[in-house]
Amino acid sequence: MSEPGVNAIRFVLDGEIVEVADAAPTTTVLEWLREHRQRTGTKEGCAEGDCGACTVVLGELTGSGGDAGMRYRAVNSCIRFLPTIDGKELVTVESLADGDKLHPVQQAMVDQHASQCGFCTPGFVMSLFALYQQQERVNREQVVETLAGNLCRCTGYRPIIDAGCAMREYAEPTRWSRADAQARRRIDAVGALRRVSPLIRPGFWAPMLLDELAAMVEAAPDSLLLAGGTDIGLWVTKHLRELPQIIYIGEVVELQRIENRGGALRIGAAVPLTDAWSAIVAHVPALTELAQRFASPPVRNSGTLVGNIANGSPIGDAMPALIALGAMIELRRGEATRTLALEDFYLGYMKKDLARGEFVVAVNVPVPNTATRVASYKLSKRIDQDISAVCAAFAIDVADEHVVAARIAYGGMAAIPARAKQAEAALVGKAFAEAAFAEAANALADDFKPLSDMRASAVYRLQGAQNLLRRFFLEHATKQVLRTDATEVSA
Ligand SMILES: Cc1cc2nc3c(=O)[nH]c(=O)nc-3n(C[C@H](O)[C@H](O)[C@H](O)COP(=O)(O)OP(=O)(O)OC[C@H]3O[C@@H](n4cnc5c(N)ncnc54)[C@H](O)[C@@H]3O)c2cc1C
Ligand code: FES
Ligand code: FES
Repeated sequence: MSEPGVNAIRFVLDGEIVEVADAAPTTTVLEWLREHRQRTGTKEGCAEGDCGACTVVLGELTGSGGDAGMRYRAVNSCIRFLPTIDGKELVTVESLADGDKLHPVQQAMVDQHASQCGFCTPGFVMSLFALYQQQERVNREQVVETLAGNLCRCTGYRPIIDAGCAMREYAEPTRWSRADAQARRRIDAVGALRRVSPLIRPGFWAPMLLDELAAMVEAAPDSLLLAGGTDIGLWVTKHLRELPQIIYIGEVVELQRIENRGGALRIGAAVPLTDAWSAIVAHVPALTELAQRFASPPVRNSGTLVGNIANGSPIGDAMPALIALGAMIELRRGEATRTLALEDFYLGYMKKDLARGEFVVAVNVPVPNTATRVASYKLSKRIDQDISAVCAAFAIDVADEHVVAARIAYGGMAAIPARAKQAEAALVGKAFAEAAFAEAANALADDFKPLSDMRASAVYRLQGAQNLLRRFFLEHATKQVLRTDATEVSA
């Protein structure tokens, strides 16, 4: 039983409502599963969101009444705090089989010989299960992208990918059918958990309204704002830090929205990266690769875009693109609100223009017009799930093949994500041609004096940054060059 005025954490597991009254605010879902529930199918590898061994799936209610449905997404249970799954359905590898009958994902893994030591297997199964629940048909590309956050050190990926491609060829299991009474029962069970008042626990508050959140943060300015926890989770599991009072923003309805307002996308602070990127990419397809290479699907399903902005890291991958597009952030402290250009938010290494008791409500991302040439490139040692050495973004307006405006931003080149103002100045007014980009590449040496660290040397960073500028030119001048070649050939 919980103390009076203190709520138990409630979620659905295998169709039953589970109430947890005694967990600490930073107990992870993985810790609870393995140590409190003795449900040890879910494994711990890295405890930092990198390997996928701990992958579980969370089910959330979407819509209401006759339109109600469940949305299933994979998350890393090792860095997800238990109180944040309140009101959701937790699905683990033990939940999948129906008696002796394996789920199609599991059967496909067996049939394709996709497991050797088996340590990574529950994680792969759960990532694929989430895809299975989302899509009636799957292709190889989707399977590969789904598995970007799962590592296997012995089987090799080919049979695992084959299992993912084959899983939809098996009959849909009754236990996980989306069409019948089973699905309705799950919707009803999760629907019954809807709260009318916030979850309040020792060390963990989860306000549901923006005004409540603003009042709490102002009254307790030393508390810690928790969004997706994909940074904060590691403070606990890797740095063994004791956290102060947590204020969780994931339940604040106003922060969960994405709106299209006057030519800009307004993305609330509780919107997961998965949804934020999908909205941005729908309007700016040039950012597709950046979105896909940002962490992994389970990290993107928990982490937020605003968390990436607010953590103040000089190597956060969203910032160069957002700054190049001219993003503005909305801040709030008590009743007071203000807006700020994102590039002005960063004052120095991990220093932000954020007052005590203030927080970021949303980011507004202007949608570029068709005359703007946009790109963002990430340089890292691995394609997937890696931290950038350098990340660059360009938004260049061109008229009559001349640069009329240029916004160029880099991460990894200074103590903060920053614009390359000298390189921009070298381009504006010039023909969109190699000579101007060569001049701009030289100017980057005046814009930035990068550091050497374990990810890259200063020389590599500068050269990489210059090469990305050249790459942008080559990719966006291709049509022009081809036209010139054709003219030369025909002449
Ligand atoms: C395995 C792994 C891979 C990753 N890969 C990448 C990557 O490829 N690129 C990249 O850029 N990052 C990456 N990250 C880092 C992380 O996922 C992102 O920075 C993410 O966007 C953080 O968001 P969050 O919601 O999880 O933040 P949290 O962990 O919840 O919070 C981060 C910080 O921001 C503060 N904060 C959160 N919301 C607000 C707000 N609204 N107002 C004020 N302060 C706030 C918190 O107090 C905290 O200080 C990775 C992380 C992991 C674990
Ligand atoms: S244990 Fe490695 S991602 Fe969670
Ligand atoms: S089967 Fe051994 S780590 Fe994947």
